[in-house]
Amino acid sequence: MLVPVQRWIWSDSDRRVQKLLRFSETETDGGRDILRAAEVTSDPLLRRLYLEHAIDEFRHGVLFRHRAAALLKVSPCRSNPGFQGDWLTPGGHGLDDLQVDGESDSDMLAFLHLSEKAAASRFTVYRDVMQHDPPTRAVFEEILHDETFHMNYTLTQLARVEPKRHRRHLWWARLSRLWKAYLRLATGLAGILGSMLLTIQYFVLLPPFAWLAKRGAHRERSGWTMVSPGHNDSLDRQY
Ligand SMILES: [Fe+2]
Ligand SMILES: [Fe+2]
Repeated sequence: MLVPVQRWIWSDSDRRVQKLLRFSETETDGGRDILRAAEVTSDPLLRRLYLEHAIDEFRHGVLFRHRAAALLKVSPCRSNPGFQGDWLTPGGHGLDDLQVDGESDSDMLAFLHLSEKAAASRFTVYRDVMQHDPPTRAVFEEILHDETFHMNYTLTQLARVEPKRHRRHLWWARLSRLWKAYLRLATGLAGILGSMLLTIQYFVLLPPFAWLAKRGAHRERSGWTMVSPGHNDSLDRQY
């Protein structure tokens, strides 16, 4: 449904550069988290797979950055990048929600599986709308191949680590992602509502006070005024 919007967002070369650079950061950060997961797991097979996975994510970061640099060489960016539509074109994995330390192998695998699945479906859309830019399309194609492998190996390993309860872990991870998405949405909405309320207060509540202050100022006599003798005693207290 959003394919025409995606096509429009990716059609602008400046926006494309900004997005590729942001995706590069997301991939590299994700790689760092998975490297940490390789350090903390006690399962030798998982450690090896996580290491390969982390190397893939770092490579994705480099691929995105190189492509952005190549685009920049052809046409330097405007100083003001304008509308970015980041919420419509999120980066790959959503691994920023990941808390590696303290997660069990099964929870980690369930989380990774869903994240990689989300990345694969997003990158499929981005690749499909990139007909006008074959080199960028090739980058998405190459990365998509890895993301599909990540999505599959995490599910296979989850079934190996938790043969009986792997579906429950997946559902739990789904609910957790849903809850975090709701929190992000609620925080965004709260920010918008807060700005709207403050703007309304500024234009509705402030004018009467400004008007009263102006009226009070008109009533004040200008310059020095005599004080009545009763109020002219020497000061013996602060107020
Ligand atoms: Fe990736
Ligand atoms: Fe991945």
